[in-house]
Amino acid sequence: MRERIFFTRRIPSKGIEILKKDYELHIREDESIPTKEEIIDGIVGCEGLVCLLTDPIDRDVLSSPDLKFVSTYAAGYNNIDVTFASSRKIPVTNAPGALTETTADIAFALLLSAGRRVVEGDRFLREGSFHGWSPMLLLGQDIHGKTLGIVGAGRIGGALARRAVGFRMNILYYNRKPDPVLERETGAVYTPFDQLLCNSDFVSLHTPLTRETEHIISAREFGLMKKKAVFINTSRGPCVNENDLVKALESGDIWAAGLDVFEREPLVDERLLCMDNVVLLPHLGSASFDTRTGMAVTACTNMAMMLAGKRPPNIINPEVYSDIRI
Ligand code: DGY
Repeated sequence: MRERIFFTRRIPSKGIEILKKDYELHIREDESIPTKEEIIDGIVGCEGLVCLLTDPIDRDVLSSPDLKFVSTYAAGYNNIDVTFASSRKIPVTNAPGALTETTADIAFALLLSAGRRVVEGDRFLREGSFHGWSPMLLLGQDIHGKTLGIVGAGRIGGALARRAVGFRMNILYYNRKPDPVLERETGAVYTPFDQLLCNSDFVSLHTPLTRETEHIISAREFGLMKKKAVFINTSRGPCVNENDLVKALESGDIWAAGLDVFEREPLVDERLLCMDNVVLLPHLGSASFDTRTGMAVTACTNMAMMLAGKRPPNIINPEVYSDIRI
């Protein structure tokens, strides 16, 4: 009997093709986010689970007796209880490389649009308020020559730094440890967290969501930023205290924000919806045709390798392979 794989959502066909011939695929066609119960029902009799960043993959899901492999169609995996998966010897993979450049593009797009009031200007014109060029109309912040502070300069943060070089920005970054390659390539300067917040004109957040990074940007951090600062988040919503962000914008502690992710996604704080100095996107970081196809190929290749008894390249919990010879 062919092994079965449950997909919580349909993903681009180039990925599905990789698995179609050798495995029995069960694809949930509903476009809504599945409940935990739907996932549990869906994986009955399935060895493989291909899931999304929206899906709750907790102990109850991972306790499903048939489940042996999990591949997420995402870079971030904060929705998966990886520790519990490891305790059950379930390998979990992600799809990180494919979306690096595309997510850096959207971070830079937010930086430009929030800094130069692009979306606000578009709204202004469409509502019929443009009556001619004016010396003080919708003035924004320069990008060139300004300082970009990158919190979490991993793959995506590093790709953002490379874009900033083209705009002649000065780059500061904060990581757990310095990155000499990034420094050499972009001139980025390793800077302690608080110092980076105080000295940056643009602060862009790129940390994964973990217990340590939850609310890493809250009232204290907004208080340290320049009053002219533009804050960008394309990582995960809960890394930021959204209520504190709203207050910082309301009180003028920071100047603007560009957000692709939200603390209670897909819910967005009503107050943000009413602010002109905030650019909001519905989690589009990786949303390009090519990148979503690349992510599907990665996620399905990972699954194919696991099912074939091979160690996949994007393994999140390599400890599951420590006592298995493959
Ligand atoms: C991811 O894969 O983690 C991204 O947030 C998708 O855009």
